[in-house]
Amino acid sequence: MSTTETTESKTTDEPGGPADSVALYDVDHPAPVIEPPRKRTAKTPKASRGNFEMQTWLFMRLSGIVLVVLVLGHLLIQLVLDGGVSKIGFAFVAGRWASPFWQVWDLLMLWLAMLHGANGLRTVINDYAERDNTRFWLKMLLYAATVFTVLLGTLVIFTFDPNIR
Ligand code: HEM
Repeated sequence: MSTTETTESKTTDEPGGPADSVALYDVDHPAPVIEPPRKRTAKTPKASRGNFEMQTWLFMRLSGIVLVVLVLGHLLIQLVLDGGVSKIGFAFVAGRWASPFWQVWDLLMLWLAMLHGANGLRTVINDYAERDNTRFWLKMLLYAATVFTVLLGTLVIFTFDPNIR
């Protein structure tokens, strides 16, 4: 009878041992109901932070894919084709930025690399800076550097003057 089985398994004190596979519970001894740890009830407050971390997780993957194309294309053009790095100079940059296509290419590369890199560093800071104060100030420094670089870079791409003397 199953009572024997139940008694048998209850007396064993070897977790993971062979006796564990014997049914602990049956119709007369039902298993206790365990509440799911994150079960939402009427008392659960509404989420206040949205799913920002999930969106940034996705952004890292998508921007990474686009960056592969932008960065490899950039390296190929700047460093390999047409005589390699020796061709790079004011005239070369002026020629490229005369085209809206390359302006948009460089702008996208700037924004995606900065946001991707900044969000990656935000994760690193969150992971490694243990004191609240340190974490806060490191992130403030990161955000300030990111905004500064993105704005300055964007300004340069759009206000570049090939006739400057
Ligand atoms: C070229 C193509 C790139 C690809 C495919 C790529 C892909 C990725 C992916 C998928 C992650 C997330 C890793 C994770 O969550 O565990 C990541 C993290 C990161 N990426 Fe990129 N990335 C690229 C370029 C860049 C660039 C240009 C920068 C710097 C400006 C950068 C800086 C970072 C940093 C700082 C992290 C965080 C590292 C960490 O969490 O340990 N990545 N990258």
